[in-house]
Amino acid sequence: MKITIVMLLLTALTACSVQLAVPAQSDVDRISTKYPGYTLAELNGGKTLFQHTCNRCHKLKNPMSRNEKKWDKIVPKMIGKLNKKEGKVVIDEKQQDSILRYIITMNSAK
Ligand code: HEC
Repeated sequence: MKITIVMLLLTALTACSVQLAVPAQSDVDRISTKYPGYTLAELNGGKTLFQHTCNRCHKLKNPMSRNEKKWDKIVPKMIGKLNKKEGKVVIDEKQQDSILRYIITMNSAK
């Protein structure tokens, strides 16, 4: 009985958190035609920003959950919402681009 409860709790916990893939050099290499000069450090920076920004109003969405065309529209829209809500620029254009690049890069893994 106790074991069932523990297992239920574990299932609920895993369901809540998005399992994000660990960025690797191969991700950077794959996207190098689209983002020349892009580095693993920049990709990781984008991931950190994504994790701290995109869970402020709802749970993190998985980069794999939508295609590139959708993300190109969604990310600026979300950052617009955030900056408007806070009444100041919380995430500037450079940071927005960093988040978008992270999402698009991970999204391109098949
Ligand atoms: C200021 C609050 C806020 C922040 C911060 C925020 N979102 Fe959202 N997000 C919303 C709201 C509200 C909705 C539902 C309404 C809508 O779709 O516009 C939503 C919906 C979404 C959807 C579903 C929309 C669709 O068309 O499929 C995605 C995907 C999403 N957010 C991704 C993100 C990402 C990525 C970030 C970080 C860049 C982010 N959100 C940051 C408020 C926020």
